[in-house]
Amino acid sequence: MQKSNKLVIVIVILVVTSLAITLRSFGQEPSPETGKPQTETKKATPPQPNPPGPQPDFSKNTWELPADAEKTKNPIEATEESVAKGKELYLAKMKGNCVFCHGETGAGNQENLPKLRRTPADLSNKEHIAGMSDGELFWKISKGINGIMPAGEKRMTEEERWHVVNYVRRLSKESGVINEER
Ligand code: HEC
Repeated sequence: MQKSNKLVIVIVILVVTSLAITLRSFGQEPSPETGKPQTETKKATPPQPNPPGPQPDFSKNTWELPADAEKTKNPIEATEESVAKGKELYLAKMKGNCVFCHGETGAGNQENLPKLRRTPADLSNKEHIAGMSDGELFWKISKGINGIMPAGEKRMTEEERWHVVNYVRRLSKESGVINEER
């Protein structure tokens, strides 16, 4: 082979390699792990539907109250006005809606009973309600039980919940009298 031919081959090789390097640098950065250009994007995983299986179990849920809930003092005197406001809230669908589960007398709404996950407490039981302080009633009405009794604080102001406490106490006494008369 002639000397000039060899030179041509060397030049061609140099040109081809430099061209290859130039073209590659126009493409995407090489992947740090593989060194290969990241031309393929990672396949997106489709959104997973909710895992199949049974509905959440609410049967063990119970009150989650502050440790000293029962010590909370009732700032609202149980005047006739307060009790009347409490009754309105107890019955109002968009407020307490207590009547849906506890019924008008507090002894339970028979019509809705089959739809409920748990039998409501009997608010017409004078002794049972008398065994709880206003503070305890207030916290129970405010927080409810997840999946069992709605948290009253979501739809009623603090003041409104105290009116409901005053009404529940009145209801238990009045319903108690009605029950005794039966
Ligand atoms: C969806 C049904 C439902 C609604 C609505 C509801 N409750 Fe209840 N409530 C229950 C059930 C069930 C219990 C019994 C929970 C338990 O002790 O396991 C209960 C218990 C109670 C207790 C008794 C607490 C105890 O320790 O014995 C009070 C007081 C009470 N509810 C008041 C109210 C008031 C006031 C409202 C309206 C602001 C209301 N509830 C709305 C279902 C309901």
